[in-house]
Amino acid sequence: MDHFTYQSGELYCESLPVAEIAREFATPCFVYSKATLVDHYTRLAEAFSPLNPLICYSIKSCSNLAICRTLAECGAGMDLVSGGELHRARLAGVDPARCVYAGVGKTDTEIRESLEAGVGWFNIESESEFENISAIAAAMNRTCRAALRVNPDVDPHTHRYTTTGKKETKFGVDIERAKTVFERYGRDEHCVLSGLHIHLGSPIYSAEPYVQSIGKVLQLMDELADRGYRIEMLDIGGGFGADYESDQTPLASAYAAEIVPLLEERARNGLRIIIEPGRTITANAGVLLLKVLYTKPSGDKTFVICDGGMNVMLRPSHYGAFHFIWPCRVSSEHVPPRRAEQMDLPGLVTADIVGPICETGDFLAIDRRIPPVDRGDLLAVFGAGAYGMTMSSRYNSMPLPAEVMVDGRSVALIRRRETYDDLTAHELDVGTAVDVPTGPTTQSVRP
Ligand code: LLP
Repeated sequence: MDHFTYQSGELYCESLPVAEIAREFATPCFVYSKATLVDHYTRLAEAFSPLNPLICYSIKSCSNLAICRTLAECGAGMDLVSGGELHRARLAGVDPARCVYAGVGKTDTEIRESLEAGVGWFNIESESEFENISAIAAAMNRTCRAALRVNPDVDPHTHRYTTTGKKETKFGVDIERAKTVFERYGRDEHCVLSGLHIHLGSPIYSAEPYVQSIGKVLQLMDELADRGYRIEMLDIGGGFGADYESDQTPLASAYAAEIVPLLEERARNGLRIIIEPGRTITANAGVLLLKVLYTKPSGDKTFVICDGGMNVMLRPSHYGAFHFIWPCRVSSEHVPPRRAEQMDLPGLVTADIVGPICETGDFLAIDRRIPPVDRGDLLAVFGAGAYGMTMSSRYNSMPLPAEVMVDGRSVALIRRRETYDDLTAHELDVGTAVDVPTGPTTQSVRP
């Protein structure tokens, strides 16, 4: 699962006690294990190797440059959803030609930047987006490749907010409409529509939704071929699970065992397969270290008040997501035999593990059984590598935390903790107001 282990009651990341990291870099702090990152990437690459896929790491799951660079060194391309992510991919040394660019709201500026950079594939989400990309490419005298994102209307059995392949969601076009999109735009010279893309949601804890959706898409591909549209790329998206509890998710090999046979022959005949994993690589590769500031008994439970909450780990309050949380130093009877919601060990107490933010919704765990903790103790929030730092905020003017990466016994600071000056660095004093010129509407630019 990962390289976070208890040795003599002390939590280690690889060969380094995390308490030493907290001493050096303070808390809250995201700690990543390089070996875990590389392991998870390698497992995927090996499992899907019969398809010789391009693995486009989904930057949004954990976008620190050092993480992107580590995965780029393993051979990854990148899955992008903004100009900002393209910027990161390039800084990490990734060839834009090995990147796919998805997202329902690409701005003209982002499209231009991506065309200039030579992004491998635009994953297109609507007809009007297609027309816009084609027009911009024509004006720039460029051509680009595009895949149409198809919404297969398959239930990935995950949280409603992260379900993307059902017809009521904003993503892609349905299979019937996909055919008319090809009829209308399939011979465009500037935006060459020759791929199909699906991304069903995340996390998905079985191969079955992939199997069902790939079946639908392959049938579409054959119908398109009959009408003279050759599809040379199929992107099956990301969404593979992570072990938030021990042994909760299928291994990469288990997903591959069901997916590879569906695509193997086509891949051998030249169909380029892309996968876009994020969480399955990064989630278990990171823990979030927090310090207990105070404990407060209340009825038959205790509030454990930490120095970070929804501002550094939004998933519990936003999705009701489970993260295993445990003290970094424990007595021998409290070394966790596994990570699970229900822990049956002697002497546990019931706690609401909460943050410092002024909201009742600021919690990391409710009614959780944990070993007793006290002021100053360190807690680890496991499975925090994906959608942890990337969804953090400065709410309540809390500076963003530090990120470090451990490699064996050594540790590198990969993002320094923000300062109070960082908090206000982008703000301007009142008194610098300018007259806004009237005229044609300006374009939406990000940034
Ligand atoms: N490809 C596309 C087009 C995506 O939208 C996503 C994730 C991925 C790939 C990668 O999915 P992954 O392999 O990481 O599951 N904030 C939520 C997850 C949102 C996922 C958004 N899209 C969470 O914390 O669970």
